[in-house]
Amino acid sequence: ALLSPGEKPLAGKKAIVTSGPTHEPIDPVRYIANRSSGKQGHAIAAALAKLGAEVTLISGPVVIADPIGVTTTHVETADQMLHAVLNSLPADIAVMVAAVADWRVAGSSDQKIKKQPGEPPAPLQLTENPDILKTIGHHALRPRFVVGFAAETQNVEQNGRRKLEAKGADIIVANDVSPATGIMGGDRNRVKIISSSGLEEWPDLGKDEVAEKLAHEIARRLG
Ligand code: CTP
Ligand code: CA
Repeated sequence: ALLSPGEKPLAGKKAIVTSGPTHEPIDPVRYIANRSSGKQGHAIAAALAKLGAEVTLISGPVVIADPIGVTTTHVETADQMLHAVLNSLPADIAVMVAAVADWRVAGSSDQKIKKQPGEPPAPLQLTENPDILKTIGHHALRPRFVVGFAAETQNVEQNGRRKLEAKGADIIVANDVSPATGIMGGDRNRVKIISSSGLEEWPDLGKDEVAEKLAHEIARRLG
C-alpha cells in the first residue's frame, strides 16, 4: 500500500549520524578503544531512514551489520570520523551518538613496539582529539537540528546540561553508562532528554524503541 505523506515526516531531509567507538592506534597492532557497540547509533540511523530521511551513517569499528536503507561509511579514528562528517555536510539533522575517544596517542609507532623483558615502554603520551559534536554545533553549515549524547557515570543531568550548552546542541540524550546499568553494549537504554525547554525522562526501553521515539521527537521539533 502507498504511504501517506504524513508517515514520512522526514522526507527530503538529510541526516548525519555517528555511531560506535573509535579506535586510536598505539602501534600497527594495538589501539585504545571503549565499550560502545554501535547498537544505539545504528538504530537511530535506521529509525530516521524509516521516517523518510536520507541518512549518512559514519560508523567506528563495530561488529553489527550496516543498517538497511542507510549509506554507511566506516572509519577507525576520531580524526577520520570528523572528516567523514564534515564531508557529509550540508545536512538538516546531525545525531552524534559515537563514543569518540577523547584522546589519541601522540606519535603512535609505525612499527610494532617490541617487548623488552623487565622494561615496560615509556608511558603513552596522549593528545586531545577533535570534538566532532562541538565542531558541528558551531559550524557555518550547522545542521538545523543537532543532537548529542552524554555518557555519564555520575551527575547525569548536570553534566548533560553543561554539554547542551558547550556543544551547541538542540538536544542532549543523557544516559548513565555505569557498568551496573548494562547500557554500554546492551540492548536496552534509559535516557533523559535535555533541551532548553527542560528535561524529559524516558522509561527503560529497547535501543530500537529509544531510536524510534527520538526520530519522532526530531521530526516534531523540526516542525
Ligand atoms: N563527542 C564528539 N567528539 C568527541 C567527543 C565527544 O563528537 N571527541 C560527542 C559524542 O558523540 C556525544 C557528545 O559529544 O554526542 C558527548 O560525549 P561525551 O563523551 O559524553 O562527552 P565529552 O564532551 O567527551 O566529555 P566527557 O567524556 O569528559 O564526559
Ligand atoms: Ca568523552
